[in-house]
Amino acid sequence: MLYRLFGRYLFGVLVIVLLVYHSSTLPAFAANIDPYIRRYLHVTEPISLNLDGQGNTRLFTPLELSAGKQMFETNCINCHVGGATLPDPQVSLALKTLQGANPPRDRINALVNFMRQPMTYDGSQETYWCRQLSPNFLSQQQVESLAAFILTAANKAPGWGTEDF
Ligand code: HEC
Repeated sequence: MLYRLFGRYLFGVLVIVLLVYHSSTLPAFAANIDPYIRRYLHVTEPISLNLDGQGNTRLFTPLELSAGKQMFETNCINCHVGGATLPDPQVSLALKTLQGANPPRDRINALVNFMRQPMTYDGSQETYWCRQLSPNFLSQQQVESLAAFILTAANKAPGWGTEDF
């Protein structure tokens, strides 16, 4: 008798614990945020990213970074797996390499401009090796999220853009 009561009590506690645990991981928070964003990029709240190299920044949420990662996987990863550039390894997406481009690409606006019209590393002419993203295909907000993912990965993901990623 006592044993059964105790069993029920324990069961009740278990149900409550599970409910509380579950509600803390409800969709609005968890379902759309890619675990990679927290685990490897260490982003759990909005982060401020360099827009133009002149001190202007913009906040990006973990959800936007997750969307950016998804677009990267759909459109870019064939050539840029792990931030490398398979067809042209010298021009990787590593932070140092982005910084060394002309104009420097370690900032959101420059990355967005590049995606709209890819240019050679020295900025002297258009390049046809990379993938161009027209506004019909990806909106301004989408390319900004994509840029935010690349910039955050370049800043934080261990080995991003190197061959031993
Ligand atoms: C077919 C292969 C290919 C695909 C797909 C591709 N790229 Fe590229 N990407 C390249 C190549 C090759 C270069 C170097 C181009 C050059 O310098 O002429 C490059 C260069 C870049 C650079 C400049 C890197 C630097 O260090 O300056 C960025 C940024 C970039 N790509 C982003 C993207 C994004 C974002 C996508 C997906 C939307 C994408 N690429 C898809 C091949 C590709």
